[in-house]
Amino acid sequence: MAASSSSLKLNPWSTAAIAFFLLVINHNFQIIEGCFNSIISFGDSLGDTGNGLHLSLNKIHPPHFARQPYGETFFHHPTGRFSDGRLVIDFIAESLGLPLVPAYLGSNIDERNNVKFRQGVNFAVGGATALDSAYLLDKGVRAPNNVSLGTQLGWFKQMMSTFCKLPSECKEFVQKSLVLVGEIGGNDFNHAFLANSTKEEVESYVPAVISTISSAIKELIELGASTLLIPGDLPIGCSTAYLTKFMHSDKEHYDPKTGCINWLNKFSQQYNELLQKELHFLRELYPSATIIYADYYNAAMQFYTSPKSHGKYYY
Ligand SMILES: *[C@@H]1O[C@H](CO)[C@@H](O)[C@H](O)[C@H]1NC(C)=O
Ligand SMILES: *[C@@H]1O[C@H](CO)[C@@H](O)[C@H](O)[C@H]1NC(C)=O
Repeated sequence: MAASSSSLKLNPWSTAAIAFFLLVINHNFQIIEGCFNSIISFGDSLGDTGNGLHLSLNKIHPPHFARQPYGETFFHHPTGRFSDGRLVIDFIAESLGLPLVPAYLGSNIDERNNVKFRQGVNFAVGGATALDSAYLLDKGVRAPNNVSLGTQLGWFKQMMSTFCKLPSECKEFVQKSLVLVGEIGGNDFNHAFLANSTKEEVESYVPAVISTISSAIKELIELGASTLLIPGDLPIGCSTAYLTKFMHSDKEHYDPKTGCINWLNKFSQQYNELLQKELHFLRELYPSATIIYADYYNAAMQFYTSPKSHGKYYY
């Protein structure tokens, strides 16, 4: 189970880094070893394998995730993952017979052009948002770093400009990769809710989050992507950060079965429905691409509905 702390500074998603991906991917689709030559990943702390740590290198105080218990159970040292162990992306890589996906930031130009990223490259950064920070700031929401999905796509295109000699080579690389677009978008809501935005304020830019993710998918397909995995949002009403921030004396606020906050989980569900609608639209637009929705919401709900089946840390 993931590292945890009572501090609200903790990214609420750090409780979610667990091997549930097999449960969450579309049942029509099986990840099979040998299907893909590499993994290209965009996202936030759910997928960050070291980019955020690199960005924090020059800070006076090392970030919380640079210390144990982060990394303690599997790697035995902090790796920049927002977990004590492996992330979903690590389990995906292992099941595909690929190396764990290396972080893009911190690599030098030679590494970028050589073997390091041939079997995978990860642009995900803890705290990253789908929307650009200027857009969010305009909505009164301050992102902890300036990394958006657009920033990450920019890094990807920059890397591609030297990684392959011919555009067709780049296209083939992307085509034979499993492309993870997210989880991303959750922080657009986390940063806002945890800094006192109202539900209505946050809802006002949900369509913008969806269309940003959709545009990124389109762009990646134009660049050659043929298989894309897009996770939805987690049940935010079950996260410790939200349970603390939105503590309420009225029992009606909570789901009696799980103790999760109803209105926040409803928010996640509605967002996930809109995201899936958009993915459905994209499947019709690009019939030759395989666009997979990963249901993180229901996968994670199992920890709250049947904690006894999922380890001792729930007691
Ligand atoms: C984000 O970008 C703005 C504008 O460029 C800059 O003023 C700010 O310092 C940046 N914040 C971080 C955390 O890098
Ligand atoms: C949110 O509201 C609380 C309580 O009023 C306040 O202490 C806190 O500073 C606010 N946070 C932000 C980011 O405005």
